[in-house]
Amino acid sequence: MGNEESTPIDESVPPQTLTSRTLEGLAEYIKSGKASRIVVMTGAGISTSAGIPDFRSPETGLYANLARLNLPYAEAVFDISFFKENPEPFYTLAHELYPGKYRPTITHSFIRLLHDKGLLLKLFTQNIDCLEREAGVPDDKIVEAHGSFARQSCIECKQPYPEDDIKRHIAAKEIPRCHHCKGLVKPEIVFFGEQLPQAFFENRTLPMHSDLCIVMGTSLTVQPFASLPGATLEGTPRVLINKERVGGLGNSADDVLLLGDCDDGVKRLAEACGWLEELEKLWAETARIVRDEVQLARHETAKSKDEALEDEIDKLTKEVDETLNLSKWHKEKVRSEIMPRSANGAEDAASYGLRSGSRSHEDEKGNLGHVFVSEASKETQPSSTKSVSDRKEDGE
Ligand code: OAD
Repeated sequence: MGNEESTPIDESVPPQTLTSRTLEGLAEYIKSGKASRIVVMTGAGISTSAGIPDFRSPETGLYANLARLNLPYAEAVFDISFFKENPEPFYTLAHELYPGKYRPTITHSFIRLLHDKGLLLKLFTQNIDCLEREAGVPDDKIVEAHGSFARQSCIECKQPYPEDDIKRHIAAKEIPRCHHCKGLVKPEIVFFGEQLPQAFFENRTLPMHSDLCIVMGTSLTVQPFASLPGATLEGTPRVLINKERVGGLGNSADDVLLLGDCDDGVKRLAEACGWLEELEKLWAETARIVRDEVQLARHETAKSKDEALEDEIDKLTKEVDETLNLSKWHKEKVRSEIMPRSANGAEDAASYGLRSGSRSHEDEKGNLGHVFVSEASKETQPSSTKSVSDRKEDGE
């Protein structure tokens, strides 16, 4: 990454469409109304300021930080063959990345603004975080080229899996299994070795019909997505808003490079177009979305903890019942065996020596009830009480 940055843009090539290959030239083109079918292509770099790491940035990227998952190689976490053998690393990551905890960035809101203004033809995103949706870009405007967490299904029988169930499993760090065939369930994220969604192939020629292409926050290293900017026609302006120069952008006559942070880049572009106030207002609204989601997630987690506690109590109640039934059975057996023998002679009672102390008590009271009940509670109560309260202490 980054080796293109040193390649100078050929300034001698005059732009065909723009007045200049600058931010100002671009803003002028947009303000003149010539850009009304904009395609936007995005990658993980537009979500880094939300707190989600990108993949390939040398120190902060996800692939540089997966050692804790003990993977044979970093990309294995998104490899379908590896997932079938060991789904745990993916679900560990899913626990961290699952939508709901993150707020869309101002760059996501910028895409929403383009839509609100009726200028967005299509957003092609490689991101799986659903932040474009959360920013309010409608479903029919988004092509999630690498899928997303928005849907999930069984990798064997392909049955859809309920969203509430996967949320609960991911919150509890458990691996979900299909309700129908017990196969592994996976969010419909495209893994290496899997086909891209139909929507990608249906829309991949759209850039040809666009009048502006905006590429943001991607290293353009993964095909076939990386070929999308090349599907625009000669003379269609393209702008790259990215920390580094990638994908050969900058080589065509109407390419504009805004190298640096994409949040800064979209703010500068919005300001040049006279939209900054609108953009900031739109972004401010996303603060509420994330607050609601976090509250909902907390509620779901609390619900799953309550359910786990209920399950534990049910299990323990069953155990106690079983023990008591066993005691009842013992009681009957003892009654049928000891009592007649006791009636016949004390010598046979010695064979129940372990309970001899109780027997004397029994003899006093004339029944066995308290002996076996207290014995049952001695065996079951401490462990049951301990395990429930321990769980409570652990905050489970
Ligand atoms: P990468 O991590 O490969 O690239 C992110 C790009 O964004 C890099 O060029 C960064 O320099 C740049 N960047 C990071 N933060 C930025 C910021 N705040 N402002 C501007 N630029 C920034 O991520 P992708 O290109 O999205 O596939 O990766 C493509 C695919 O590779 C992903 O969809 C994923 C991965 O393997 C699958 O999971 C199938």
